[in-house]
Amino acid sequence: MDRRRFLSWAGVGVFATSLPMVIAACSSPSPTAEPEQSSAASNGSTPAAGGAQPNVEGFYEVGSKTALANGAAITSAKFAGGSGTLVVVQDPANPEGIVALNATCTHKGCTVEWKDGAFVCPCHAAEFGSNGTVKKGPAKEPLAVFEAKLEGGKVFVKPS
Ligand code: FES
Repeated sequence: MDRRRFLSWAGVGVFATSLPMVIAACSSPSPTAEPEQSSAASNGSTPAAGGAQPNVEGFYEVGSKTALANGAAITSAKFAGGSGTLVVVQDPANPEGIVALNATCTHKGCTVEWKDGAFVCPCHAAEFGSNGTVKKGPAKEPLAVFEAKLEGGKVFVKPS
């Protein structure tokens, strides 16, 4: 390879290797990541607990009452700064009421699921009532209960 051809190839190589740095330096800063959106089972709504601000009483809006129709549940994995997965369901004992619990199983920490009026753990089959009490082991401790209320068709939950 002659000198001229070598210098030509070397110049292309330097340009090619420095191009990504030039592009990165000239581009605008990347936007900050959005907080994780929580999800609601069976209805596709997205309560806004992750990153949302509480109201003056410390309650977070996590969804709408209609999201709880037909046995569906509102869930949020980032509720209250990651202290556990929130699950909100219609109170089976009171159709006008709701219950909100930490869905983290007290046995080994799996996330319980709302099925036919009870919270069932998929890992070792523990069952909890809608108020969090243990109905069937191996779990021995109840699920943690959050304060919850309905206002104007919206579901509000207060982390404890
Ligand atoms: Fe739930 Fe074991 S982790 S029953």
